[in-house]
Amino acid sequence: MEKFLSVNDVQDVNEIVQSALKIKANPEAYGDVGKNKMLGLLFFNPSLRTRLSTQRAARHLGMDVMVMNIDKDGWKIETEDGVVMDSDKAEHLKDAAAVISQYCDIIGVRSFPSLQNKEEDYADSIMKDFVKYAKSPIVSLESATRHPLQSLADLVTIRENSDKPKKKVVLTWAPHPRALPQAVPNSFAEWMNTADDVELIITAPEGYELDPEFTGNAKFTTNQDEALKDADFVYAKNWSSTTEYGKVVCKDNSWQITEEKMALTDNGKFMHCLPIRRNVVASDAVLDSENSLILEEANNRTFAAAAVLNAMLEKED
Ligand code: CP
Repeated sequence: MEKFLSVNDVQDVNEIVQSALKIKANPEAYGDVGKNKMLGLLFFNPSLRTRLSTQRAARHLGMDVMVMNIDKDGWKIETEDGVVMDSDKAEHLKDAAAVISQYCDIIGVRSFPSLQNKEEDYADSIMKDFVKYAKSPIVSLESATRHPLQSLADLVTIRENSDKPKKKVVLTWAPHPRALPQAVPNSFAEWMNTADDVELIITAPEGYELDPEFTGNAKFTTNQDEALKDADFVYAKNWSSTTEYGKVVCKDNSWQITEEKMALTDNGKFMHCLPIRRNVVASDAVLDSENSLILEEANNRTFAAAAVLNAMLEKED
């Protein structure tokens, strides 16, 4: 695998899910795969799970890791081509990416959207420029538009928790006080659409319809209760408005996932990528119930990352 920015970079989704499960079952068996290889993790934005689980994954494979908060600890990065660099931006992305490639065999990058301008955000230029200028393979640690390591971990978790040949998976918008990126729901929809054992239904208030580029043929409804009926999995997530880009236009708390909402499902499992605002997005009772998979998902981030790094290291040999 030469890059991992979306599900489209994966040749066989079932195979990479199986690879994650195989590594999870016996992580010690992979200790030499990344010997003498260096992983660099670059964060333009905060992280807990991605930062720690990807380092843990690298350690399972015997890799060394360097982590940098590039926004805080590095020079301010210029991304425009051909500009006169007489502002406060001291380093061009093309130079930084090429230099980091000399130190790192694989580079992970996290870069969130500004939520000010959809066209600019959806161009995903920081991630794409790293792919363009780095000599090493790039792994998205969440871009402006997608979070593929999260989605792979989510699919692994779904497969571990249901043998049903067709699982009803509901992606539901939930309230949040702040405007959040659309990367997680975009990516989740894209990955679920590739899974032949998943029927995906998306529910959100008007003004929150995700781009069909990601949702494909998934059914959409603004009636959350109808969507939740008989669901096997409920994946809650807030995202900011798509019609009034990057804004919070709905503050309706009736979208919060509560025990009453979960009672509409077929003993459904609750999922969320974390971090989660308790009693805003979902109630304590749901999050702490035995049907909550939030910790399993977070744990599977390690094995999703290990499967991706493993595939990249195999390619290098
Ligand atoms: N789910 C997730 O990516 O968590 P972090 O933002 O803490 O890495």
